[in-house]
Amino acid sequence: MQVTILAIETSCDDTSAAVIRDGYVISNLIAGQDVHRSYGGVVPELASRAHQANIVPVIDQAIKKAGISKNEISAVAFTRGPGLLGSLLVGASFAKGFALSLGIPLIEVNHLQAHVLAHFIRIKGRENIIPSFPFLCLLVSGGHTQIILVKDYLEMGILGNTIDDAAGEAFDKCGKLMDLSYPAGPEIDKLALQGNKNAFTFSKPSVKGLDFSFSGLKTNFLYFLRDMVKEDKDFIEKNRADLCASIQFTIVSILTEKLIKASIETGIKQIGIAGGVSANSVLREAVKNEAEKRGWNLFIPPIDFTTDNAAMIGITGYYKYIRGEFAGQDIVPLARL
Ligand code: KG4
Ligand code: ZN
Repeated sequence: MQVTILAIETSCDDTSAAVIRDGYVISNLIAGQDVHRSYGGVVPELASRAHQANIVPVIDQAIKKAGISKNEISAVAFTRGPGLLGSLLVGASFAKGFALSLGIPLIEVNHLQAHVLAHFIRIKGRENIIPSFPFLCLLVSGGHTQIILVKDYLEMGILGNTIDDAAGEAFDKCGKLMDLSYPAGPEIDKLALQGNKNAFTFSKPSVKGLDFSFSGLKTNFLYFLRDMVKEDKDFIEKNRADLCASIQFTIVSILTEKLIKASIETGIKQIGIAGGVSANSVLREAVKNEAEKRGWNLFIPPIDFTTDNAAMIGITGYYKYIRGEFAGQDIVPLARL
């Protein structure tokens, strides 16, 4: 019997729906929200309103694009958290109503676990190599920066965590200081292509163990810009590419160094990266170089499955379905998990 999961992701500012059949993605739609661009970050109230406007058409399209009828859906998976409560509520409410109306099970999914399991999304005609257990996953997103020990699909432990800002936040906040729009990560990645990564040096934190810190770097960047702009008011404009390349290089070095440390300490050479920042071209290149040097078996998800998407919620839902891990109608979303 086929297992067909309708998956819904609304944790932040992307409304996404996907259909996953037996682990293969057969549709994955994402409606972004341009409304936040000029604010330099996500405005929670605007995000939840945009989810309300987008959710029905996005789910309708995901089902149509998959070429299935509603009656073929085995279960509905949705993001329970972590995320913005107002945004999570839209997806959770829709998922509950949909499951109830069709009399099918409801599956709650942890957004972070889903980012890690993005490695297991199968694509027809593009047979991807998937990690075996145990593996280490560097999870880098807008809200989280963690090194995770993945023992099984649904069994994971956190080995390292950020003690303040996340890596994506560092990209976005530094971008904002350079007048880039939100989210600044992808733009920094692009602008840095024309820049020199050694043009400027920024401080790297010394944090114990496998933990991370990015707030000091952001402050260092802020004061540096403030001092330089005092001398030349066009400093940022004249040096934007070099600033992007240098700050990106610093963030990527911080991430890569801890990942290497985690691999040495655990003796695990199966390594993956996941989350929005794992779309970064310099991070992808850096871990590839380390993999070659250190004999890692490296897993990098396709770009489409790095930033927020419902396919990753669907694959997690699929593994939970197989294990019979269902949620009741009384389940509530949680901003923190
Ligand atoms: O995983 P994600 O889509 O959402 C969260 O769960 O937070 O990650 C979003 C983060 C943002 O901070 C964004 O700037 C960053 O991922 N990001 C990037 C790139 N693409 C997205 N950061 C650096 N380089 C990129 N190419
Ligand atoms: Zn995410």
